[in-house]
Amino acid sequence: MNYMEQLQELQTEVDKRQGPQDGRYSITESLKLPHPIKLPEYTIRFADLDNCGRELLEDALNARCNAYAPYSKFKVGAAFRTKCGRVFTGCNIENVALTPGSCAERTALVKGISEGFKCYDAGAVVAYHESGFTTPCGVCRQFINEFAKTDIPIYIGQAPEVSSKLPAFNDDDEVLVTSIYHLLPHSFTVFK
Ligand code: THU
Repeated sequence: MNYMEQLQELQTEVDKRQGPQDGRYSITESLKLPHPIKLPEYTIRFADLDNCGRELLEDALNARCNAYAPYSKFKVGAAFRTKCGRVFTGCNIENVALTPGSCAERTALVKGISEGFKCYDAGAVVAYHESGFTTPCGVCRQFINEFAKTDIPIYIGQAPEVSSKLPAFNDDDEVLVTSIYHLLPHSFTVFK
């Protein structure tokens, strides 16, 4: 680090300690936030992802093959890993009357919770849309949050455009690694 960079670093530290001069404070300085610690959010090549992320995405991709989406034609797969390492998968299940339909995320979690697994430490969602990543809907964000004791990573992958019987990710596919606190910031909490 050269002299100018050292000076810049010192100035940044001084600014941080002094706080903003106009009465505003950085959100990270508040002790009253329900979920102050957030995991990092980033994108990464599929091949560079850790084993847990790769496995969950592959499980979600396989579950997507079972999607029942005759109305929207939009197939979604999800996978959630319990604290003890079990994985539950799900797909979206639509209905002619629309409202009774279930998203892939809730299908997966409902399967696990009804088997007695109420705590999850990672999840994955896979769909295909040409314009980019599909992140969970608002209802699913609230549902996932209920069964995550801390912030948990949520891996978002894009399914291959052409669906085959044995779909697979390519090493260079871009994956979004987000987290439930990023997806549902400042969520409602009953302080204990
Ligand atoms: N869907 C999911 O399964 N998960 C989401 O996070 C977003 C939406 C489903 C619901 C519906 O069957 C279809 O995608 C189109 O909205």
